[in-house]
Amino acid sequence: MASAHGVGDPLVLGIETSCDETGVALVRGDELLVDAVASSMEEHARYGGIIPEVASRAHLEQMVPTITRALGEADVDLSEVDAIAVTAGPGLVGPLTIGASAAKALAIGLNKPLYGVNHVIGHAAVNQLVDGPFEGRTMALVVSGGHSSLMLVDDVATGVTELGSTLDDAAGEAFDKVGRLLGLPYPGGPHVDRLAREGDPEAIRFPRGLTAAKDQAKHAYDFSFSGLKTAVARWIEACVDAGREVPAADVAASFAAAVADVLTAKTIAACRRHDVETLVVGGGFSANSQLREMAAKRCAEAGIDLRIPPIRYCTDNGAMIAALGSAVVRAGAAPSSFDFPVDSSMPMTTITV
Ligand code: KG4
Ligand code: ZN
Repeated sequence: MASAHGVGDPLVLGIETSCDETGVALVRGDELLVDAVASSMEEHARYGGIIPEVASRAHLEQMVPTITRALGEADVDLSEVDAIAVTAGPGLVGPLTIGASAAKALAIGLNKPLYGVNHVIGHAAVNQLVDGPFEGRTMALVVSGGHSSLMLVDDVATGVTELGSTLDDAAGEAFDKVGRLLGLPYPGGPHVDRLAREGDPEAIRFPRGLTAAKDQAKHAYDFSFSGLKTAVARWIEACVDAGREVPAADVAASFAAAVADVLTAKTIAACRRHDVETLVVGGGFSANSQLREMAAKRCAEAGIDLRIPPIRYCTDNGAMIAALGSAVVRAGAAPSSFDFPVDSSMPMTTITV
């Protein structure tokens, strides 16, 4: 872990509850002191998707134990905390509300400032805890089951511009849907990844969404994966109708190659266009081996420094929120008011509420 800042920096407690992970972390400057996470994914797996009510109840049950665990592991007393940061959006309204309520209660009780922050920007900010502060303009690709967002980051606390995002499915969501088509367990992403490693990525030429010349004017940096998912479904159907066995590994490999190709091609084009030499990748989908391989190869060719943190910092956690909170506090941003609402579709123009 990089520890670029001294004891004078504020101690920030970060709380994350936008989906199924209850995350609590303590960060001082760019130094992570502790990161405690409890997940309710096992409770959702049998439904084949996140059930917001189930996630909300799990957050309610896990919140105090997770805070207690984080403080205990870091040997920090609650009274030492200087500021509270919490995810204000985007995410599921019920889960967000549990985290925001806990953070508001803590901030009032401790008489400390509260910062409601943007979850997706947190996925970029967490990289600074691992690989050190960003040096100048940085490109961030945040990909998960809920988001696919390409952002130009001048400063995570004050200057983020979203260049593009998905118009339909997120990358992880597309993997989960293809996993279902191939009869794999939920969430399908990691299973499709594993299967793809045994197949031929060039066996089937699946479509690359929004890469045609006509898309360059309006959607050069946007993504679309729903056409690809439909193409995979049609291809499997045609195979079944013809009485042929579905070559699942080749389907998975060709599909994964299409997703990785579009994500990396557009991201590297954006780096070139904006003269950026560092690319940060975050979000749970950064675990995807096809994306990692293609990003490593293409970034090396383009002379771009690629930063992908260990997977536990790519999935949802409290560290990302504490990291962004820490940056925001150090930038001197105004605290959020205690009546801020959560925002399920918070835009990237909002770093703090
Ligand atoms: O960030 P995350 O844990 O939760 C969300 O905010 O969505 O991301 C989970 C998503 C799921 O869609 C999951 O299937 C996908 O990321 N995923 C993967 C891999 N690991 C996780 N997709 C493809 N390959 C993987 N290795
Ligand atoms: Zn996320």
